Amino acid sequence: MKILKQLFNNNQEWSERIKAEDPTFFEKLALQQAPEYLWIGCSDSRVPANQLTGLLPGDVFVHRNVANLVMHTDFNCLSVVQYAVEVLKVKHIIICGHYGCGGVKAAMGDAELGLIDNWLCSLKDLYHRYRKDLLGIEPEQAREDALCELNVVEQVANLCRTTIVQHAWQRGQELSIHGWVYGIKDGKLHDLDVCVSEKAETPDVYRILQQRILDK
Ligand code: CO
Repeated sequence: MKILKQLFNNNQEWSERIKAEDPTFFEKLALQQAPEYLWIGCSDSRVPANQLTGLLPGDVFVHRNVANLVMHTDFNCLSVVQYAVEVLKVKHIIICGHYGCGGVKAAMGDAELGLIDNWLCSLKDLYHRYRKDLLGIEPEQAREDALCELNVVEQVANLCRTTIVQHAWQRGQELSIHGWVYGIKDGKLHDLDVCVSEKAETPDVYRILQQRILDK
């Protein structure tokens, strides 16, 4: 039987370290969670939401999937968004992609990888929509980076169009959607300047999407 003892040892040390700083930390957290942020990121092991933003348990509600996609048919993602917006009343939703994303690379290629090809279908559509412009970007790494950024902008637009976000804005709820990209090579976050805080700003996202490609 493999019990992954090291991880339990790590956990023991981690919980002791937190309790040393704040003896009632876990007791307080057990009573409620009131995060201000919902993070929608890639499943990639190198992009851990809490660590790279310096946030503690209780600070950020998290949903991750391959290539940080927000799809209107994905009940998993939509349920997370609904709970975060309507129950937890988060003020910010961050869609964070990352450079060097395997999902983005796969969407640009022709290799058959299995079930993941179905999951990446909408990302392949995005690539083909901008293929002409993207192929003008050299070297290949820069082209991949551009699609990573485009993907984040596209997911911000998708999220803005969900009834969950639309209704929150109609109610006058304070809610901003942000699009970021994380650099796994330098550990730095990059803001793509696509923050949307009301319905009227949604079309701007598509303008930025176009601009971003034409500027490359
Ligand atoms: Co990724």
